[in-house]
Amino acid sequence: MEKLFLFIKTIVIEMLPEIISVLIISAVGLLIFLVISYQTKDLIRKFRPIWYIQSALLFSVVIAAKSIAYSSFGLDAGGLDLVDKASQTLLWLLGTLVANQALHLFVWEGVFLRKYKSTPPAILMGLATAFLYLVAIYGIMTFIFERPMTGLIVSSGIVAGVLGLAMQNSLADLVAGVSISIERPFKIGDWVELDDGTLGEVVDINWRATHIKSRHNSLYILPNARISNARVHNYSRPEKTYSCWIYVHIPSTVPPTLVRRVLLEAAVESENVLIDPAPIIRVSEAGGSYKYVVFVNFESYPSHYAGLDDLFMHVWVQCARHGIVPSAVTSEIIMRKGVAEEIKGPSPDDLLAEVELFSEVDEGSRQGLVSKIKVHAIPMGKEVVCQGDLGTSLYIISAGMVRVIIDTSDGGTQEIAKLGAGQYFGEMSLLAHEPRTATVMAHTDCQLLEIDKESMKSVFDSHPELMQIMAGIVTERRLSNEELTKNLSADDFATKLNALVTNLVERMKKIFR
Ligand code: CMP
Repeated sequence: MEKLFLFIKTIVIEMLPEIISVLIISAVGLLIFLVISYQTKDLIRKFRPIWYIQSALLFSVVIAAKSIAYSSFGLDAGGLDLVDKASQTLLWLLGTLVANQALHLFVWEGVFLRKYKSTPPAILMGLATAFLYLVAIYGIMTFIFERPMTGLIVSSGIVAGVLGLAMQNSLADLVAGVSISIERPFKIGDWVELDDGTLGEVVDINWRATHIKSRHNSLYILPNARISNARVHNYSRPEKTYSCWIYVHIPSTVPPTLVRRVLLEAAVESENVLIDPAPIIRVSEAGGSYKYVVFVNFESYPSHYAGLDDLFMHVWVQCARHGIVPSAVTSEIIMRKGVAEEIKGPSPDDLLAEVELFSEVDEGSRQGLVSKIKVHAIPMGKEVVCQGDLGTSLYIISAGMVRVIIDTSDGGTQEIAKLGAGQYFGEMSLLAHEPRTATVMAHTDCQLLEIDKESMKSVFDSHPELMQIMAGIVTERRLSNEELTKNLSADDFATKLNALVTNLVERMKKIFR
Protein backbone atom coordinates (compact mmCIF):
# COMPACT_ATOMS: atom_id res chain seq x y z
CA MET A 1 0.00 0.00 0.00
CA GLU A 2 2.80 2.36 0.99
CA LYS A 3 4.52 1.70 -2.31
CA LEU A 4 1.35 2.53 -4.17
CA PHE A 5 1.01 5.93 -2.47
CA LEU A 6 4.70 6.67 -3.03
CA PHE A 7 4.37 5.81 -6.67
CA ILE A 8 1.34 8.06 -7.17
CA LYS A 9 3.06 10.93 -5.28
CA THR A 10 6.18 10.65 -7.48
CA ILE A 11 4.09 10.70 -10.62
CA VAL A 12 1.91 13.66 -9.59
CA ILE A 13 4.57 15.94 -8.07
CA GLU A 14 7.81 15.18 -9.84
CA MET A 15 6.87 14.08 -13.29
CA LEU A 16 3.63 15.86 -14.04
CA PRO A 17 5.01 18.71 -16.24
CA GLU A 18 7.14 16.27 -18.20
CA ILE A 19 4.31 13.80 -18.63
CA ILE A 20 1.92 16.54 -19.78
CA SER A 21 4.33 17.84 -22.43
CA VAL A 22 4.99 14.30 -23.66
CA LEU A 23 1.30 13.50 -23.72
CA ILE A 24 0.42 16.66 -25.69
CA ILE A 25 2.96 15.86 -28.41
CA SER A 26 1.91 12.19 -28.47
CA ALA A 27 -1.79 13.10 -28.54
CA VAL A 28 -1.31 15.23 -31.68
CA GLY A 29 0.52 12.35 -33.36
CA LEU A 30 -2.14 9.89 -32.29
CA LEU A 31 -4.93 12.13 -33.48
CA ILE A 32 -3.41 12.23 -36.95
CA PHE A 33 -3.13 8.43 -36.87
CA LEU A 34 -6.75 8.00 -35.77
CA VAL A 35 -8.05 10.34 -38.50
CA ILE A 36 -6.13 8.39 -41.13
CA SER A 37 -7.30 5.02 -39.75
CA TYR A 38 -10.91 6.19 -39.63
CA GLN A 39 -10.78 7.34 -43.24
CA THR A 40 -9.24 4.11 -44.45
CA LYS A 41 -11.35 1.77 -42.25
CA ASP A 42 -13.63 0.44 -44.98
CA LEU A 43 -10.85 0.32 -47.52
CA ILE A 44 -8.71 -1.78 -45.16
CA ARG A 45 -11.54 -4.29 -44.67
CA LYS A 46 -11.78 -4.79 -48.41
CA PHE A 47 -8.07 -4.74 -49.10
CA ARG A 48 -5.90 -5.92 -46.19
CA PRO A 49 -2.45 -4.99 -47.66
CA ILE A 50 -3.38 -1.31 -47.15
CA TRP A 51 -3.27 -1.98 -43.41
CA TYR A 52 0.35 -3.23 -43.58
CA ILE A 53 1.40 -0.25 -45.71
CA GLN A 54 -0.41 2.26 -43.47
CA SER A 55 1.08 0.84 -40.25
CA ALA A 56 4.61 0.71 -41.66
CA LEU A 57 4.25 4.29 -42.98
CA LEU A 58 3.06 5.63 -39.63
CA PHE A 59 5.96 4.11 -37.72
CA SER A 60 8.39 5.45 -40.32
CA VAL A 61 6.85 8.95 -40.09
CA VAL A 62 7.28 9.02 -36.28
CA ILE A 63 10.91 7.89 -36.52
CA ALA A 64 11.64 10.37 -39.33
CA ALA A 65 9.96 13.22 -37.41
CA LYS A 66 12.12 12.42 -34.41
CA SER A 67 15.32 12.55 -36.50
CA ILE A 68 14.26 15.88 -38.08
CA ALA A 69 13.49 17.37 -34.63
CA TYR A 70 16.91 16.19 -33.39
CA SER A 71 18.90 17.59 -36.27
CA SER A 72 17.02 20.72 -37.31
CA PHE A 73 15.72 22.61 -34.27
CA GLY A 74 18.92 23.04 -32.24
CA LEU A 75 17.26 21.70 -29.10
CA ASP A 76 19.00 21.81 -25.74
CA ALA A 77 19.40 18.66 -23.61
CA GLY A 78 15.94 19.11 -21.99
CA GLY A 79 14.30 19.58 -25.40
CA LEU A 80 16.05 16.54 -26.85
CA ASP A 81 14.98 14.42 -23.91
CA LEU A 82 11.38 15.59 -24.33
CA VAL A 83 11.37 14.75 -28.06
CA ASP A 84 12.89 11.38 -27.27
CA LYS A 85 10.27 10.52 -24.67
CA ALA A 86 7.41 11.86 -26.78
CA SER A 87 8.46 9.83 -29.80
CA GLN A 88 8.92 6.66 -27.74
CA THR A 89 5.56 7.15 -26.03
CA LEU A 90 3.99 7.72 -29.41
CA LEU A 91 5.59 4.55 -30.73
CA TRP A 92 4.22 2.55 -27.78
CA LEU A 93 0.73 3.97 -28.24
CA LEU A 94 0.87 3.49 -32.00
CA GLY A 95 1.99 -0.07 -31.41
CA THR A 96 -1.00 -0.64 -29.14
CA LEU A 97 -3.41 0.92 -31.62
CA VAL A 98 -2.01 -1.14 -34.45
CA ALA A 99 -2.12 -4.29 -32.29
CA ASN A 100 -5.75 -3.49 -31.43
CA GLN A 101 -6.54 -2.98 -35.11
CA ALA A 102 -4.83 -6.26 -35.95
CA LEU A 103 -6.87 -7.96 -33.23
CA HIS A 104 -10.10 -6.66 -34.80
CA LEU A 105 -9.07 -7.32 -38.37
CA PHE A 106 -7.51 -10.76 -38.04
CA VAL A 107 -9.01 -12.22 -34.89
CA TRP A 108 -12.50 -10.78 -34.29
CA GLU A 109 -13.45 -10.19 -37.92
CA GLY A 110 -11.23 -13.01 -39.16
CA VAL A 111 -10.75 -16.26 -37.26
CA PHE A 112 -13.60 -15.65 -34.79
CA LEU A 113 -16.11 -14.63 -37.47
CA ARG A 114 -15.23 -17.65 -39.60
CA LYS A 115 -15.52 -20.05 -36.68
CA TYR A 116 -18.61 -18.69 -34.91
CA LYS A 117 -20.32 -17.00 -37.90
CA SER A 118 -20.76 -13.71 -36.00
CA THR A 119 -18.59 -10.99 -34.51
CA PRO A 120 -17.68 -11.47 -30.83
CA PRO A 121 -19.68 -9.82 -28.07
CA ALA A 122 -18.68 -6.31 -26.98
CA ILE A 123 -17.72 -7.53 -23.48
CA LEU A 124 -14.96 -9.78 -24.87
CA MET A 125 -13.60 -7.19 -27.31
CA GLY A 126 -13.64 -4.54 -24.54
CA LEU A 127 -11.65 -6.76 -22.15
CA ALA A 128 -9.04 -7.60 -24.80
CA THR A 129 -8.61 -3.92 -25.76
CA ALA A 130 -8.33 -2.90 -22.08
CA PHE A 131 -5.62 -5.53 -21.60
CA LEU A 132 -3.61 -4.19 -24.54
CA TYR A 133 -3.73 -0.64 -23.18
CA LEU A 134 -2.69 -1.80 -19.70
CA VAL A 135 0.34 -3.46 -21.25
CA ALA A 136 1.10 -0.18 -23.08
CA ILE A 137 0.87 1.85 -19.86
CA TYR A 138 3.14 -0.65 -18.15
CA GLY A 139 5.67 -0.42 -20.99
CA ILE A 140 5.62 3.40 -21.10
CA MET A 141 6.09 3.76 -17.34
CA THR A 142 8.81 1.11 -17.08
CA PHE A 143 10.88 1.75 -20.18
CA ILE A 144 10.38 5.45 -20.95
CA PHE A 145 9.87 7.08 -17.59
CA GLU A 146 11.95 4.42 -15.86
CA ARG A 147 9.47 3.91 -13.06
CA PRO A 148 9.27 0.11 -12.76
CA MET A 149 5.73 -0.86 -11.95
CA THR A 150 6.57 -4.18 -10.32
CA GLY A 151 5.97 -2.69 -6.89
CA LEU A 152 2.74 -1.21 -8.13
CA ILE A 153 1.66 -4.53 -9.62
CA VAL A 154 2.47 -6.35 -6.38
CA SER A 155 0.55 -3.83 -4.30
CA SER A 156 -2.25 -3.66 -6.85
CA GLY A 157 -2.29 -7.47 -6.72
CA ILE A 158 -2.99 -7.21 -3.00
CA VAL A 159 -5.63 -4.55 -3.69
CA ALA A 160 -7.10 -6.78 -6.39
CA GLY A 161 -7.16 -9.70 -3.94
CA VAL A 162 -9.05 -7.64 -1.40
CA LEU A 163 -11.38 -6.26 -4.06
CA GLY A 164 -11.82 -9.75 -5.51
CA LEU A 165 -13.02 -11.07 -2.18
CA ALA A 166 -15.41 -8.15 -1.80
CA MET A 167 -16.66 -8.46 -5.38
CA GLN A 168 -16.69 -12.25 -5.56
CA ASN A 169 -20.20 -12.42 -7.01
CA SER A 170 -19.63 -9.66 -9.54
CA LEU A 171 -16.43 -11.34 -10.71
CA ALA A 172 -18.24 -14.65 -11.08
CA ASP A 173 -20.84 -12.82 -13.20
CA LEU A 174 -18.10 -11.21 -15.28
CA VAL A 175 -16.38 -14.55 -15.92
CA ALA A 176 -19.75 -16.19 -16.70
CA GLY A 177 -20.58 -13.25 -19.02
CA VAL A 178 -17.33 -13.80 -20.92
CA SER A 179 -17.94 -17.54 -21.17
CA ILE A 180 -21.53 -16.96 -22.39
CA SER A 181 -20.12 -14.53 -24.93
CA ILE A 182 -17.61 -17.05 -26.23
CA GLU A 183 -19.68 -20.21 -26.02
CA ARG A 184 -22.87 -18.47 -27.18
CA PRO A 185 -25.55 -20.80 -25.82
CA PHE A 186 -27.90 -17.93 -26.77
CA LYS A 187 -27.60 -14.51 -28.30
CA ILE A 188 -29.60 -11.28 -28.36
CA GLY A 189 -32.97 -11.88 -30.02
CA ASP A 190 -33.16 -15.59 -29.05
CA TRP A 191 -36.19 -16.92 -27.15
CA VAL A 192 -35.12 -18.95 -24.12
CA GLU A 193 -36.70 -20.77 -21.21
CA LEU A 194 -34.80 -21.57 -18.00
CA ASP A 195 -35.39 -24.56 -15.75
CA ASP A 196 -37.19 -22.32 -13.23
CA GLY A 197 -39.76 -21.39 -15.90
CA THR A 198 -38.30 -17.98 -16.82
CA LEU A 199 -39.32 -17.51 -20.45
CA GLY A 200 -38.70 -14.64 -22.85
CA GLU A 201 -36.52 -12.96 -25.44
CA VAL A 202 -32.87 -12.16 -24.67
CA VAL A 203 -32.54 -8.40 -25.11
CA ASP A 204 -29.14 -7.68 -23.57
CA ILE A 205 -26.07 -9.53 -22.27
CA ASN A 206 -23.71 -7.25 -20.35
CA TRP A 207 -20.72 -7.89 -18.08
CA ARG A 208 -22.94 -8.61 -15.06
CA ALA A 209 -26.34 -9.83 -16.14
CA THR A 210 -28.51 -11.14 -18.96
CA HIS A 211 -31.76 -9.28 -19.61
CA ILE A 212 -34.74 -11.33 -20.72
CA LYS A 213 -37.94 -9.63 -21.87
CA SER A 214 -40.96 -11.63 -20.76
CA ARG A 215 -44.25 -12.08 -22.61
CA HIS A 216 -45.77 -9.63 -20.13
CA ASN A 217 -43.47 -6.94 -21.55
CA SER A 218 -41.49 -6.90 -18.30
CA LEU A 219 -37.82 -7.62 -17.77
CA TYR A 220 -36.03 -10.45 -15.96
CA ILE A 221 -32.49 -9.43 -15.00
CA LEU A 222 -30.53 -12.61 -14.33
CA PRO A 223 -26.94 -12.58 -13.03
CA ASN A 224 -24.71 -14.26 -15.62
CA ALA A 225 -23.32 -16.73 -13.06
CA ARG A 226 -26.83 -17.97 -12.37
CA ILE A 227 -27.88 -18.29 -15.97
CA SER A 228 -24.67 -20.13 -16.88
CA ASN A 229 -25.51 -22.76 -14.24
CA ALA A 230 -29.13 -23.10 -15.31
CA ARG A 231 -30.56 -25.49 -17.91
CA VAL A 232 -31.46 -23.26 -20.83
CA HIS A 233 -33.96 -24.28 -23.50
CA ASN A 234 -33.16 -22.11 -26.53
CA TYR A 235 -36.19 -21.97 -28.84
CA SER A 236 -34.29 -20.11 -31.55
CA ARG A 237 -31.53 -22.71 -32.09
CA PRO A 238 -30.41 -24.58 -34.10
CA GLU A 239 -33.06 -23.15 -36.45
CA LYS A 240 -35.07 -19.97 -35.94
CA THR A 241 -38.17 -21.84 -37.13
CA TYR A 242 -40.25 -23.46 -34.41
CA SER A 243 -41.93 -26.84 -34.86
CA CYS A 244 -44.93 -27.87 -32.83
CA TRP A 245 -48.04 -29.98 -33.11
CA ILE A 246 -51.63 -30.15 -32.01
CA TYR A 247 -53.88 -33.14 -31.40
CA VAL A 248 -57.32 -33.44 -32.94
CA HIS A 249 -59.70 -36.25 -31.96
CA ILE A 250 -62.08 -37.33 -34.72
CA PRO A 251 -64.66 -40.14 -34.55
CA SER A 252 -63.36 -43.38 -36.04
CA THR A 253 -66.36 -43.44 -38.42
CA VAL A 254 -64.85 -40.62 -40.47
CA PRO A 255 -62.47 -41.96 -43.16
CA PRO A 256 -58.86 -41.10 -42.22
CA THR A 257 -58.08 -40.10 -45.83
CA LEU A 258 -60.76 -37.41 -45.59
CA VAL A 259 -59.56 -36.25 -42.16
CA ARG A 260 -55.96 -35.98 -43.37
CA ARG A 261 -57.06 -33.86 -46.31
CA VAL A 262 -59.23 -31.63 -44.15
CA LEU A 263 -56.54 -31.12 -41.49
CA LEU A 264 -53.91 -30.48 -44.12
CA GLU A 265 -56.13 -27.91 -45.74
CA ALA A 266 -56.63 -26.24 -42.35
CA ALA A 267 -52.87 -26.17 -41.71
CA VAL A 268 -52.00 -24.80 -45.15
CA GLU A 269 -54.62 -22.08 -44.83
CA SER A 270 -53.46 -20.94 -41.37
CA GLU A 271 -51.66 -17.67 -41.55
CA ASN A 272 -48.42 -18.26 -39.65
CA VAL A 273 -47.90 -21.89 -40.64
CA LEU A 274 -44.92 -22.32 -42.99
CA ILE A 275 -45.58 -24.26 -46.16
CA ASP A 276 -41.91 -25.12 -46.39
CA PRO A 277 -41.33 -27.50 -44.57
CA ALA A 278 -44.83 -28.71 -45.30
CA PRO A 279 -47.31 -29.58 -42.52
CA ILE A 280 -47.67 -33.30 -41.81
CA ILE A 281 -50.74 -35.16 -40.54
CA ARG A 282 -50.37 -38.47 -38.73
CA VAL A 283 -52.69 -40.78 -36.83
CA SER A 284 -51.16 -41.34 -33.41
CA GLU A 285 -53.82 -43.40 -31.65
CA ALA A 286 -56.85 -45.38 -32.78
CA GLY A 287 -59.83 -46.38 -30.67
CA GLY A 288 -63.37 -45.09 -30.24
CA SER A 289 -61.98 -41.96 -31.81
CA TYR A 290 -58.83 -41.44 -33.83
CA LYS A 291 -56.18 -39.13 -32.47
CA TYR A 292 -54.56 -37.09 -35.26
CA VAL A 293 -51.35 -35.12 -34.87
CA VAL A 294 -50.97 -32.01 -36.99
CA PHE A 295 -47.24 -31.16 -37.24
CA VAL A 296 -46.59 -27.60 -38.31
CA ASN A 297 -43.68 -25.18 -38.48
CA PHE A 298 -43.74 -21.49 -37.59
CA GLU A 299 -41.29 -18.82 -38.67
CA SER A 300 -40.14 -18.28 -35.06
CA TYR A 301 -41.04 -19.21 -31.51
CA PRO A 302 -43.12 -16.08 -30.72
CA SER A 303 -45.14 -16.43 -33.94
CA HIS A 304 -46.50 -19.79 -32.74
CA TYR A 305 -48.80 -18.16 -30.16
CA ALA A 306 -51.00 -16.44 -32.75
CA GLY A 307 -50.25 -19.27 -35.21
CA LEU A 308 -51.73 -22.00 -33.03
CA ASP A 309 -54.79 -19.90 -32.39
CA ASP A 310 -55.29 -19.47 -36.14
CA LEU A 311 -54.65 -23.17 -36.73
CA PHE A 312 -57.31 -24.23 -34.20
CA MET A 313 -59.77 -21.84 -35.86
CA HIS A 314 -59.07 -23.30 -39.30
CA VAL A 315 -59.35 -26.87 -38.03
CA TRP A 316 -62.76 -26.02 -36.64
CA VAL A 317 -63.88 -24.25 -39.84
CA GLN A 318 -62.63 -27.02 -42.17
CA CYS A 319 -64.19 -29.77 -40.04
CA ALA A 320 -67.50 -27.91 -39.96
CA ARG A 321 -67.33 -27.42 -43.73
CA HIS A 322 -67.00 -31.17 -44.25
CA GLY A 323 -69.62 -32.10 -41.64
CA ILE A 324 -67.04 -33.58 -39.26
CA VAL A 325 -67.64 -33.14 -35.53
CA PRO A 326 -64.41 -33.55 -33.51
CA SER A 327 -64.82 -36.02 -30.63
CA ALA A 328 -64.69 -35.11 -27.00
CA VAL A 329 -61.28 -36.06 -25.64
CA THR A 330 -62.84 -38.07 -22.83
CA SER A 331 -63.89 -41.66 -23.65
CA GLU A 332 -67.12 -42.06 -25.54
CA ILE A 333 -69.61 -44.89 -25.49
CA ILE A 334 -71.00 -45.27 -28.97
CA MET A 335 -74.17 -47.27 -29.37
CA ARG A 336 -74.58 -48.12 -33.00
CA LYS A 337 -77.80 -49.13 -34.57
CA GLY A 338 -77.30 -50.42 -38.06
CA VAL A 339 -74.66 -48.85 -40.30
CA ALA A 340 -73.18 -45.55 -39.20
CA GLU A 341 -74.19 -42.60 -41.30
CA GLU A 342 -71.61 -42.08 -43.98
CA ILE A 343 -69.82 -38.77 -43.83
CA LYS A 344 -68.77 -37.40 -47.17
CA GLY A 345 -66.37 -34.65 -48.05
CA PRO A 346 -67.33 -31.92 -50.51
CA SER A 347 -68.25 -33.33 -53.91
CA PRO A 348 -66.22 -32.52 -57.06
CA ASP A 349 -69.14 -30.26 -58.01
CA ASP A 350 -68.75 -28.22 -54.80
CA LEU A 351 -65.01 -28.10 -55.33
CA LEU A 352 -65.32 -27.03 -58.95
CA ALA A 353 -67.73 -24.23 -58.01
CA GLU A 354 -65.01 -22.86 -55.75
CA VAL A 355 -62.41 -22.69 -58.54
CA GLU A 356 -62.51 -19.13 -59.83
CA LEU A 357 -62.07 -20.21 -63.44
CA PHE A 358 -65.19 -22.39 -63.42
CA SER A 359 -67.30 -20.31 -61.07
CA GLU A 360 -68.96 -18.52 -64.01
CA VAL A 361 -69.64 -21.74 -65.94
CA ASP A 362 -73.37 -22.55 -65.97
CA GLU A 363 -74.72 -25.35 -63.81
CA GLY A 364 -75.41 -27.70 -66.76
CA SER A 365 -71.90 -27.48 -68.25
CA ARG A 366 -70.36 -27.85 -64.81
CA GLN A 367 -72.40 -30.99 -64.13
CA GLY A 368 -71.24 -32.35 -67.48
CA LEU A 369 -67.65 -31.66 -66.50
CA VAL A 370 -68.08 -33.18 -63.03
CA SER A 371 -69.31 -36.47 -64.47
CA LYS A 372 -66.04 -36.82 -66.42
CA ILE A 373 -63.64 -35.66 -63.73
CA LYS A 374 -61.14 -38.16 -62.26
CA VAL A 375 -60.21 -37.65 -58.59
CA HIS A 376 -56.61 -38.51 -57.58
CA ALA A 377 -55.05 -38.73 -54.11
CA ILE A 378 -51.34 -37.89 -54.51
CA PRO A 379 -48.89 -38.49 -51.66
CA MET A 380 -46.42 -35.79 -50.67
CA GLY A 381 -43.29 -35.70 -52.88
CA LYS A 382 -44.78 -37.56 -55.88
CA GLU A 383 -44.39 -36.07 -59.39
CA VAL A 384 -47.71 -35.39 -61.10
CA VAL A 385 -46.44 -34.08 -64.43
CA CYS A 386 -42.90 -34.08 -65.76
CA GLN A 387 -41.27 -31.32 -67.83
CA GLY A 388 -40.99 -32.34 -71.50
CA ASP A 389 -43.72 -35.02 -71.38
CA LEU A 390 -46.74 -34.70 -73.62
CA GLY A 391 -49.80 -33.70 -71.63
CA THR A 392 -53.47 -34.03 -72.36
CA SER A 393 -54.98 -33.16 -68.95
CA LEU A 394 -55.42 -30.22 -66.70
CA TYR A 395 -55.39 -30.63 -62.91
CA ILE A 396 -57.33 -28.68 -60.33
CA ILE A 397 -55.97 -28.77 -56.79
CA SER A 398 -58.89 -29.50 -54.48
CA ALA A 399 -56.70 -30.00 -51.39
CA GLY A 400 -53.04 -29.64 -50.54
CA MET A 401 -50.23 -27.90 -52.31
CA VAL A 402 -47.89 -28.52 -55.27
CA ARG A 403 -44.49 -27.16 -56.30
CA VAL A 404 -43.79 -26.08 -59.88
CA ILE A 405 -40.16 -26.68 -60.85
CA ILE A 406 -38.30 -25.92 -64.10
CA ASP A 407 -34.95 -27.12 -65.43
CA THR A 408 -32.41 -24.29 -65.63
CA SER A 409 -29.83 -23.73 -68.36
CA ASP A 410 -26.96 -24.69 -65.99
CA GLY A 411 -28.39 -28.21 -65.62
CA GLY A 412 -30.04 -27.56 -62.23
CA THR A 413 -33.67 -27.01 -61.26
CA GLN A 414 -35.53 -24.01 -59.86
CA GLU A 415 -38.84 -23.79 -58.03
CA ILE A 416 -40.95 -21.13 -59.74
CA ALA A 417 -44.25 -21.38 -57.92
CA LYS A 418 -46.28 -23.10 -55.27
CA LEU A 419 -49.95 -23.65 -56.06
CA GLY A 420 -52.65 -24.42 -53.53
CA ALA A 421 -56.32 -25.41 -53.31
CA GLY A 422 -58.50 -23.77 -55.99
CA GLN A 423 -55.57 -23.25 -58.39
CA TYR A 424 -54.79 -25.43 -61.39
CA PHE A 425 -51.86 -26.61 -63.50
CA GLY A 426 -51.20 -28.63 -66.65
CA GLU A 427 -53.22 -26.20 -68.78
CA MET A 428 -50.24 -25.00 -70.81
CA SER A 429 -49.57 -28.19 -72.75
CA LEU A 430 -53.25 -29.13 -72.88
CA LEU A 431 -54.26 -25.84 -74.49
CA ALA A 432 -51.27 -25.29 -76.77
CA HIS A 433 -50.60 -28.96 -77.60
CA GLU A 434 -47.01 -28.64 -76.48
CA PRO A 435 -44.77 -30.61 -74.09
CA ARG A 436 -45.11 -29.88 -70.35
CA THR A 437 -43.26 -26.68 -69.55
CA ALA A 438 -42.48 -27.65 -65.95
CA THR A 439 -42.43 -30.52 -63.47
CA VAL A 440 -45.18 -30.40 -60.86
CA MET A 441 -44.69 -32.28 -57.60
CA ALA A 442 -46.97 -32.74 -54.56
CA HIS A 443 -45.60 -30.54 -51.77
CA THR A 444 -48.11 -31.98 -49.30
CA ASP A 445 -50.52 -34.88 -49.64
CA CYS A 446 -52.90 -33.61 -52.34
CA GLN A 447 -56.24 -34.28 -53.87
CA LEU A 448 -56.38 -33.40 -57.58
CA LEU A 449 -59.25 -33.29 -60.06
CA GLU A 450 -58.15 -34.29 -63.56
CA ILE A 451 -59.94 -32.80 -66.55
CA ASP A 452 -59.06 -34.18 -70.00
CA LYS A 453 -59.10 -32.54 -73.43
CA GLU A 454 -62.56 -33.82 -74.39
CA SER A 455 -64.16 -32.45 -71.21
CA MET A 456 -62.40 -29.13 -71.73
CA LYS A 457 -63.68 -28.99 -75.30
CA SER A 458 -67.29 -29.24 -74.17
CA VAL A 459 -66.73 -26.40 -71.68
CA PHE A 460 -65.15 -24.20 -74.37
CA ASP A 461 -68.10 -25.00 -76.69
CA SER A 462 -70.55 -23.49 -74.22
CA HIS A 463 -68.18 -20.83 -72.81
CA PRO A 464 -65.78 -19.64 -75.54
CA GLU A 465 -64.83 -16.62 -73.38
CA LEU A 466 -62.87 -19.04 -71.12
CA MET A 467 -60.38 -19.49 -73.97
CA GLN A 468 -59.32 -15.85 -73.76
CA ILE A 469 -58.99 -16.00 -69.95
CA MET A 470 -56.98 -19.21 -69.98
CA ALA A 471 -54.80 -18.05 -72.87
CA GLY A 472 -53.98 -14.95 -70.78
CA ILE A 473 -52.95 -17.08 -67.80
CA VAL A 474 -50.93 -19.53 -69.92
CA THR A 475 -49.06 -16.72 -71.66
CA GLU A 476 -48.37 -14.89 -68.45
CA ARG A 477 -46.93 -18.03 -66.81
CA ARG A 478 -44.87 -18.84 -69.91
CA LEU A 479 -43.41 -15.32 -70.11
CA SER A 480 -42.64 -15.19 -66.41
CA ASN A 481 -40.68 -18.45 -66.84
CA GLU A 482 -38.84 -16.94 -69.80
CA GLU A 483 -38.16 -13.85 -67.72
CA LEU A 484 -36.48 -16.11 -65.17
CA THR A 485 -34.50 -18.26 -67.56
CA LYS A 486 -33.74 -15.79 -70.35
CA ASN A 487 -33.71 -12.49 -68.41
CA LEU A 488 -36.60 -11.01 -70.40
CA SER A 489 -37.02 -7.28 -69.68
CA ALA A 490 -40.32 -5.84 -68.33
CA ASP A 491 -40.97 -3.98 -71.64
CA ASP A 492 -40.42 -7.10 -73.76
CA PHE A 493 -42.73 -8.92 -71.36
CA ALA A 494 -45.64 -6.48 -71.86
CA THR A 495 -45.37 -6.26 -75.66
CA LYS A 496 -44.99 -9.99 -76.06
CA LEU A 497 -47.96 -10.74 -73.79
CA ASN A 498 -50.75 -9.31 -75.97
CA ALA A 499 -49.41 -10.69 -79.22
CA LEU A 500 -48.97 -14.14 -77.72
CA VAL A 501 -52.44 -14.26 -76.16
CA THR A 502 -54.13 -13.49 -79.50
CA ASN A 503 -51.94 -16.04 -81.22
CA LEU A 504 -52.67 -18.71 -78.60
CA VAL A 505 -56.43 -18.15 -78.72
CA GLU A 506 -56.31 -18.75 -82.49
CA ARG A 507 -54.38 -21.98 -81.94
CA MET A 508 -56.75 -23.10 -79.20
CA LYS A 509 -59.71 -22.55 -81.48
CA LYS A 510 -58.11 -24.91 -84.01
CA ILE A 511 -57.17 -27.51 -81.36
CA PHE A 512 -60.61 -27.54 -79.73
CA ARG A 513 -62.61 -27.11 -82.88
P1 CMP B 1 -47.95 -27.62 -68.35
O1 CMP B 1 -46.88 -27.01 -69.18
O2 CMP B 1 -48.99 -28.39 -69.06
O3 CMP B 1 -47.27 -28.52 -67.21
C1 CMP B 1 -46.50 -27.88 -66.22
C2 CMP B 1 -47.38 -26.86 -65.55
O4 CMP B 1 -46.76 -26.03 -64.57
C3 CMP B 1 -47.85 -25.84 -66.57
O5 CMP B 1 -48.66 -26.45 -67.50
C4 CMP B 1 -48.49 -24.82 -65.68
O6 CMP B 1 -49.75 -25.21 -65.29
C5 CMP B 1 -47.57 -24.87 -64.49
N1 CMP B 1 -46.66 -23.68 -64.56
C6 CMP B 1 -45.67 -23.46 -65.42
N2 CMP B 1 -45.10 -22.23 -65.18
C7 CMP B 1 -45.78 -21.71 -64.15
C8 CMP B 1 -45.68 -20.47 -63.41
N3 CMP B 1 -44.77 -19.56 -63.71
N4 CMP B 1 -46.54 -20.25 -62.40
C9 CMP B 1 -47.46 -21.19 -62.08
N5 CMP B 1 -47.60 -22.35 -62.72
C10 CMP B 1 -46.78 -22.63 -63.75
